[in-house]
Amino acid sequence: MTTPLLDRFKRPLRDLRVSVTDRCNFRCTYCMPAEIFGEAYQFLPKSEVLTFEEMTRLVRIIVRLGAVKVRITGGEPLVRQDIEKLVEMLRLVEGVDDLTLTTNGYFLPQKAQALKAAGLDRITVSLDSLDEAVFRKMNGNRSSVQKVLDGIAAAEAAGLWPIKLNAVVQRGVNDQTIVDLARWARDKGYILRFIEYMDVGNRNGWRMDQVVSGKEIAERIHAVLPLEPAERSYKSEVAMRYRYQDGGGEIGLITSVTQPFCGACSRMRLSPEGQIVTCLFATQGTDLRGPLRAGASDDELEAITRPGATASTATANFASTKPTAPATPKSRCTTLGDELPGEAPLRHHGLPVAFLEWTLTPAAEQFDSGESRH
Ligand code: 5AD
Ligand code: SF4
Repeated sequence: MTTPLLDRFKRPLRDLRVSVTDRCNFRCTYCMPAEIFGEAYQFLPKSEVLTFEEMTRLVRIIVRLGAVKVRITGGEPLVRQDIEKLVEMLRLVEGVDDLTLTTNGYFLPQKAQALKAAGLDRITVSLDSLDEAVFRKMNGNRSSVQKVLDGIAAAEAAGLWPIKLNAVVQRGVNDQTIVDLARWARDKGYILRFIEYMDVGNRNGWRMDQVVSGKEIAERIHAVLPLEPAERSYKSEVAMRYRYQDGGGEIGLITSVTQPFCGACSRMRLSPEGQIVTCLFATQGTDLRGPLRAGASDDELEAITRPGATASTATANFASTKPTAPATPKSRCTTLGDELPGEAPLRHHGLPVAFLEWTLTPAAEQFDSGESRH
């Protein structure tokens, strides 16, 4: 194998998320608000989106650099036609230990069996609330709760297990429904992760006072369903994990706003138009599609993929490989999903004391850089 890839913080590359489309059938207000992503919004033309063959070739190269976990994301990945074909192709890439997908669940009733048969290992479904009015409000009135529940049930029936669920929490929108969601997920045996509401640079009117910290979320659940800390599954895992004290499952908290975790992040993202981005918060990506379509060899593409590659060393023959701003906005199930980017400075000190000790960083400090979150 080629020398494993370390980024400029010397972190090994471990996770690759492959964003297969910039489109989605939902209009979640925190992600693709309908006012912005309306009729007139210019999504990528098909010719600019990588084909499955192109994606698979790039994934193979990135896996040579050390990635072992591959997550298919979007936009909404299931809106891409025949997505199971890509799963089948990625399954054959040597070195991929874990092949997963993050979805809003809407098309799972039709797709779950095919995804499993194609070799998908697991799935993560976004579900922000079990309350119909709340959920509809959050997804831009594109789906009922039942539709997503049907999708989750289909995934379970197909053997996509364990099932993880993602819920973004927004104060005054769905925070009153988190305990209900936790109880339900626990009864079902699903791993529920709450995600702090982030500013993802989509003009979603983000305000810090709408963020419910992971600390508060955990406290609110703990008050009703007692929790205790659980270990991280692996070093770069970014969700803080808690188990129910009675042994009935676990929750995760993804505290990208109050406790960003860049130090332990081990991921890379391939965008639908073929840019490689080493930090999900990065504003610049490196174009691989240009060189790929211009006939670059695997070795040349690998050299371009390595962070620190410069136009003179790696990309001399491929004029378009200078860093470019990603054409697609950086948020979505695209970038989030199983876990989020970043360091994992979070340490468990035991409950409930941990909650009291859990210091919160003022939002202003974190957003002063002027960068959007994803
Ligand atoms: N803040 C937090 N999470 C977000 N997601 C999308 N946009 C945001 C945001 N602004 C979440 C989706 C999904 C996960 C993949 O990313 O809800 O659950
Ligand atoms: Fe679509 Fe997921 Fe974004 Fe919602 S959060 S609009 S389902 S990509």
